[in-house]
Amino acid sequence: MYNEINLNQIAMETSPPAEEPARQYYFMEKCRRWVKKFEAENGRPPRACVFNMGCQMNAHDSEKLRGILGTIGYQLTEDETSDFVLYNTCTVRENANLKVYGHLGYLSSLKKKRPQMMIALCGCMMQEPQVVERIQKKYRFVNLVFGTHNLYKFAELLAAALESDRMIIDIWKDTDRIVEDLPADRTYPFKSGVNIMFGCNNFCSYCIVPYVRGRERSRRPQDILREIENLVRDGVKEVMLLGQNVNSYGKNLEEPVTFAQLLRMAEQIEGLERIRFMTSHPKDLSDELIEVMRDSRKVCRHLHLPLQSGSTRILKKMNRRYTKEQYLLLTEKLRREMPDLSLTTDIIVGFPGETEEDFQETLDVVRRVRFDSAFTFIYSRRTGTPAAVMEDQVPEDVVKERFGRLLSLVQEIGQETSLRVQGQTLPVLVESVNEQDPSLVSGRLSNNLMVHLPGGSGLVGQIVDVYLKECRGFYYIGEIADSQEKERTWHS
Ligand code: 5AD
Ligand code: SF4
Repeated sequence: MYNEINLNQIAMETSPPAEEPARQYYFMEKCRRWVKKFEAENGRPPRACVFNMGCQMNAHDSEKLRGILGTIGYQLTEDETSDFVLYNTCTVRENANLKVYGHLGYLSSLKKKRPQMMIALCGCMMQEPQVVERIQKKYRFVNLVFGTHNLYKFAELLAAALESDRMIIDIWKDTDRIVEDLPADRTYPFKSGVNIMFGCNNFCSYCIVPYVRGRERSRRPQDILREIENLVRDGVKEVMLLGQNVNSYGKNLEEPVTFAQLLRMAEQIEGLERIRFMTSHPKDLSDELIEVMRDSRKVCRHLHLPLQSGSTRILKKMNRRYTKEQYLLLTEKLRREMPDLSLTTDIIVGFPGETEEDFQETLDVVRRVRFDSAFTFIYSRRTGTPAAVMEDQVPEDVVKERFGRLLSLVQEIGQETSLRVQGQTLPVLVESVNEQDPSLVSGRLSNNLMVHLPGGSGLVGQIVDVYLKECRGFYYIGEIADSQEKERTWHS
């Protein structure tokens, strides 16, 4: 594994290798020498922090960036006053962009006091040309800007930035390249994201992702399976397979493979206990996938299936390529095959032209499907997308009022559906000691519901059977089934 490569063995006297990932390991060693010098001069290693501001894909990219910084010898922190600060940005909604500019304002004052501090920006927002222009003009103190397609080149770009007093900018419009085997610093030792594909070909009319993440590219199944096997060897029990549209996985591979086939292959990996995936597009969800999920011991009982709108008219304008009725039929089929399946969704309120009748259709779908939970978003106009220039943008007060109604319905139904497993004993993967109450640990059911239970740090990373005693809205208070048994015996 390249993760365990010995950087000391890299010949730095020669020019950098052309092939990847060897080239990046060469630059990691180069940066490491700089870090050693810093340490000798300052009596401490340089500190670095990476902030992820977006989706799970973004969070997983940040683990890779942290992995590279850790390999180089930076001390990883979560502190915005570190020597090296990197923002991994999101641009799916405008407020994500505004947040970045806010942070940059703060960093500018820090950097005035400590000019050696280095600031870098990467991620989806950097794929927008007007953003990079603005940074060049107004935020001259930024040292490094790169995008989503060349993230694997981070070590090389950092090496350049360490030597330069000018802003280094490297953004690619698109790529067909996938570089394997770079280091990653996993947030959790027992669970990990795994990219299975990059990009998106769907072009929903509101969404900027296809413009910033490029065309769909799938990783080869053997590379994905090898990564999962290595993760399992390293203690991982749960993987989250990541892609913008996992249901179209493998279509463009030399030897096409379906997502359902990939799941079947992953299921064979010994020691792997749970498989999750995100995100599914309703138009591509196959019967084969439903079958594999239904028959699997490892694929979790949770499906995130973005609805976006319940109105067929709006769905058409959104270019979603399914109707309200098709969505309802699909969820009925899913529930029939897997009655214990948890269904979650994304909904956008206030898409251009949305009328009260359209909105009522959305509420109707929410009532009929009874989602376990839903992420609800106010429509955000993204420059460059077809929806941004559509007429009939809905006034803000109307959108806010609809948003409030949707949120309360979603919450009311979510609380009711959460009650479904009350009194059952189900496996929980314990994820952490509870932050508010250290006598508790917190974990998740296969259906993704959170459970808090009495226990210590020794349970973290373990899958334990938990009696679900009390549902409190969107989470459970439980106790380990064995002790429940004991308690019962005592009382009888
Ligand atoms: N405005 C509001 N929400 C959006 N999403 C994507 N683009 C926009 C936008 N322009 C939401 C969708 C998607 C989720 C990741 O973000 O619901 O499923
Ligand atoms: Fe994730 Fe999309 Fe945001 Fe990029 S723009 S971080 S892909 S949600």
